[in-house]
Amino acid sequence: MLLPAVLLLALSSVEGTKDCPDYCLCYEHSDLVDCRARGFLHVPFELPDGTWLLDLGGNALTEVQSRAFAGLWSLRVLVLSDSGIQLLQPDAFYSLSFLEKLDISHNNLRRLPSDFSDSLSSVRELRLDHNSLEQLNSLEHLESLEKLDLSHNNLTFLQSGAFRGLSRLRHLYLQANRLGAVRHGSMSMLSTLEDLQLGQNNITQIDTEALTPLTSLNLLALEDNQLRQLKFKTFLSLHTAGTHLQLAGNPWNCDCDLQRIFSKLLSVRHLHVDDYENVTCREPQQLAGALLALVSSQLCIAETATVLVITATVLVTVLAAVVMAEHTRKKNQQRGKGFDDESQSQDR
Ligand SMILES: *[C@@H]1O[C@H](CO)[C@@H](O)[C@H](O)[C@H]1NC(C)=O
Ligand SMILES: *[C@@H]1O[C@H](CO)[C@@H](O)[C@H](O)[C@H]1NC(C)=O
Ligand SMILES: *[C@@H]1O[C@H](CO)[C@@H](O)[C@H](O)[C@H]1NC(C)=O
Repeated sequence: MLLPAVLLLALSSVEGTKDCPDYCLCYEHSDLVDCRARGFLHVPFELPDGTWLLDLGGNALTEVQSRAFAGLWSLRVLVLSDSGIQLLQPDAFYSLSFLEKLDISHNNLRRLPSDFSDSLSSVRELRLDHNSLEQLNSLEHLESLEKLDLSHNNLTFLQSGAFRGLSRLRHLYLQANRLGAVRHGSMSMLSTLEDLQLGQNNITQIDTEALTPLTSLNLLALEDNQLRQLKFKTFLSLHTAGTHLQLAGNPWNCDCDLQRIFSKLLSVRHLHVDDYENVTCREPQQLAGALLALVSSQLCIAETATVLVITATVLVTVLAAVVMAEHTRKKNQQRGKGFDDESQSQDR
């Protein structure tokens, strides 16, 4: 009577991987494994094979070991947020080829390992926001990715082709980094991108051709950067059905050129400046803090006045020349008559 019971016990411990890990809560036959904020220092070893969602947020992992999730072929959603992660070991995401959602936000990552995306080709949503990433590399295998959150990091530049391979990307969040420019090539291959968030960076320049690849762009947010001037061509190269622009919170240099560019932006049918009413001037000093919409009609007055003065000067000069010419002609005519008279009198 005792033997079968012991056998059963032994069997069930062999099949221990089907059980819920200590200190975690499991639901739906261990498909959903909730290990949030339990003070874990490592990814627990014995996770149920069938785990579909694993939440390890709010722990103290520091790093994700190599093959930490090996064998979890069913995993679709993995949350590793707010867990003090500084390092992802090579092969950290081994076995996760069917993962669809990965959240590593609110950690201390400064870089990603070179094989980061190798096994993440099914991931559709990746959160890496609120880390300390300084550069981007190794995103190229994220071929199913639709939403990438890189906001609140420490990125200072995007290298050419930084997002190549992300041929389904629709939402790219890069706000609150330290980007200084949007360079030609950095947005290449992003023809499906709809939403590009670049606010709260340090952007002073956008290359004229930088936005050309973004043929599906609905929203380009550039608020709270360091833009003083724009080139109309930069936005004209956006060949989209319609794009909303957000441009407030920049230290605009409100001169006649800027007024002209904004009035063109406002008149082009496929471009919409959503926050035009909030666009303020930083320069010239006497306009600091003024709303562009309120002063824009005056910005070209000086220039118009100059043009008028020049036109008037030219007119006066031309008129004077004409009068002088007429005067000389008449004089010559008269003198010619005199000569004629003289010669006639000599002939006689
Ligand atoms: C960003 O980088 C700068 C310079 O390397 C460093 O001083 C700063 O602490 C970093 N910020 C974050 C949030 O990592
Ligand atoms: C912004 O860019 C300027 C150079 O254009 C640089 O001197 C400054 O340190 C940058 N600020 C931040 C917060 O990265
Ligand atoms: C303008 O700024 C105000 C105050 O920050 C904000 O409430 C409002 O939504 C902004 N309007 C637009 C169109 O962005």
